[in-house]
Amino acid sequence: MGKLEGKVAIVTGGGSGIGRAFVHGLSDEGAKVAIAELNSQWADAVAKELHEKGREVLSVSMDVSDEANTLATARTVVDRYGQIDILVNNAALFSDLKRNNWLEIPVEEWDRVMAVNVRGVWLCCRAVAPYMIKKGKGKIVNMASNVVFGVPGLGLLHYTASKGAVLSLTRGLARDLGEHGINVNAIGPGLTVTEKTKMDQEQAKKKIQSRSLKRLGVPSDLVGTLIYLASGDSDLLTGQMIMVEGGATMQ
Ligand SMILES: NC(=O)c1ccc[n+]([C@@H]2O[C@H](COP(=O)([O-])OP(=O)(O)OC[C@H]3O[C@@H](n4cnc5c(N)ncnc54)[C@H](O)[C@@H]3O)[C@@H](O)[C@H]2O)c1
Repeated sequence: MGKLEGKVAIVTGGGSGIGRAFVHGLSDEGAKVAIAELNSQWADAVAKELHEKGREVLSVSMDVSDEANTLATARTVVDRYGQIDILVNNAALFSDLKRNNWLEIPVEEWDRVMAVNVRGVWLCCRAVAPYMIKKGKGKIVNMASNVVFGVPGLGLLHYTASKGAVLSLTRGLARDLGEHGINVNAIGPGLTVTEKTKMDQEQAKKKIQSRSLKRLGVPSDLVGTLIYLASGDSDLLTGQMIMVEGGATMQ
């Protein structure tokens, strides 16, 4: 039996990169998974991978920054599976952002990053919370980043600020939802290589040197932490961020 047998999970941005690994990981532990994704082709492709494994999975086209979309997604999942036990707030604007001097970030881009990376997390939590509160149980896992501790040279000030907000949101929500038996935690990855990572050899070498464990991360490195945070193993843990980045930063 998997650790998440009988559970229902939503993974935002589950159509690519880390989100795709999360969808597979949750499903491997027995959860029914809804892939809530802006790019419906990517979501459908991941859903197909799971169908081929004989798994229960749902692909939902949605934008996390849109309130109506988040409410409709939660409703669709409950209509199909009857409950929501786990929400993984993974969707963000990250890989597609251009590295820029902070003075050159366009205001519209700043606003869009905040809308997706911060408002999106809040809206998704707001959409699923009533169903979790009704059950008196739930697990919310937010994707933050080690950039909140001032990792230098990223060239993404708006992204950095948004992930600081995700950490604060995680702590605030853990307080608000704790009385309902809902755990809210975050994962803080360092640079994790996906199909979209753009990095030359020199940059990769510098990154590796900054770490205690001398290698870059890949999405599967984060799956064990997600399963821990999504399962009963972490029932007394809330408001925390677990850093999974080879010991570059230490708290
Ligand atoms: N890859 C890394 O090095 C790294 C490091 C630290 C933290 N993270 C965080 O981990 C998460 C996943 O990272 P990734 O590298 O796979 O990101 P990514 O940018 O490659 O992919 C994000 C996914 O979210 C989806 N998405 C974007 N906007 C959306 C929206 N408005 N609504 C719904 N879906 C939307 C995209 O289509 C994509 O599938 C992100 O929150 C990211 O900030 C990544």
